[in-house]
Amino acid sequence: MSVILNYPITIKILFCMLNVFVYTHDISSGSAYESNGLDDGQENDYDNDFLYEDYETYQTSKHVFYWLYTRDDTDGQLLNRSEPHMIESTTYNEDNPIKVIIHGWLGTTQEKDGVCSYNVKSYFKMGDYNVICVDWKQYSTDISYSVAKARAKHIAKDIANVLTRITYNLTINFYSLHIIGHSMGAHIAGFVGQDLPDVPRITGLDPAKPKYDKCDPEDRLDKTDAIFVDIIHTNAGQNGFDRSIGHMDFYPNGGKKQPNCEKGDKKSGSCSHVSSYHYYAHSIWAKGDYIAYICSSWEDYEANMCDKANSTYMGEWVDMKGEYGDYFLKTEVRD
Ligand SMILES: *[C@@H]1O[C@H](CO)[C@@H](O)[C@H](O)[C@H]1NC(C)=O
Ligand SMILES: *[C@@H]1O[C@H](CO)[C@@H](O)[C@H](O)[C@H]1NC(C)=O
Ligand SMILES: *[C@@H]1O[C@H](CO)[C@@H](O)[C@H](O)[C@H]1NC(C)=O
Repeated sequence: MSVILNYPITIKILFCMLNVFVYTHDISSGSAYESNGLDDGQENDYDNDFLYEDYETYQTSKHVFYWLYTRDDTDGQLLNRSEPHMIESTTYNEDNPIKVIIHGWLGTTQEKDGVCSYNVKSYFKMGDYNVICVDWKQYSTDISYSVAKARAKHIAKDIANVLTRITYNLTINFYSLHIIGHSMGAHIAGFVGQDLPDVPRITGLDPAKPKYDKCDPEDRLDKTDAIFVDIIHTNAGQNGFDRSIGHMDFYPNGGKKQPNCEKGDKKSGSCSHVSSYHYYAHSIWAKGDYIAYICSSWEDYEANMCDKANSTYMGEWVDMKGEYGDYFLKTEVRD
């Protein structure tokens, strides 16, 4: 801890981190984070980050990559930081909406069953989009969860800068911007929203719980980060955040455990955790499968005690003008 105290970080952030260090020891055994063998080493890894890297000047931009997908190039094009707006030599089309997808800790943009690939496929099934997947795997796959978390705001700053360039200082096509983040990527999306004024929409897909649930709103995703924030909870209380933090929070199948997940899911929760982006990808082309109703609890929903007056679609086609609150639904379809 003495190492950390030498650094000019605010007491508030430190407090949030101290809280979460204490909390780590309560994480139910066998969560996805522990299964990577990093749980007990987190404090050490975190210290090492401060020892061996110049935290303030570490060049985030050298380690974060942006892949653009359009219908004309569904394989993806790496955006070139040397071009003023980074899109000059690509098939980016300013008439089409911008979807930014941010993976979680240990995620990448390329994996076949990752949050990027699934949603890219679904979007192009439906129409023309500029889908930009943020690849921060150099920050995410070979470092501990705590170190990744400590860098999340730096990654967000870089994303905010890049989006500013792509949208010509937030003037061209900015109104269509929608940022989608899974797990820790959901909190990074929130920090991007703190860095840019009036991001129209952020979607948090099972926002990470470990080390975030004791944080103040400015140190995690919350509804002040964008004009509209929708959340899909699929592993709430384990890997996923267990409270409502958006304008609309969706709790499919109660929000804690998802059907069609193997037995190992009970321990790790990872199948339920990734179900959030499977649902999202499905919602893009099959909104009718996910009609959700406002209700006070899953128990009331199951007991048929919800007022069915307020319903909306979970996922891409959510009615942003609908009643804010907690929504529940049963899902039959995942992919
Ligand atoms: C990136 O853009 C710069 C400036 O236009 C150009 O010189 C460079 O070759 C480009 N890099 C790649 C990999 O295309
Ligand atoms: C964007 O803002 C920066 C800094 O204020 C300015 O230097 C630049 O010329 C602006 N670019 C455009 C395209 O408006
Ligand atoms: C639901 O819809 C009704 C009718 O439109 C409305 O009066 C009510 O306030 C809404 N809100 C909730 C939380 O049920």
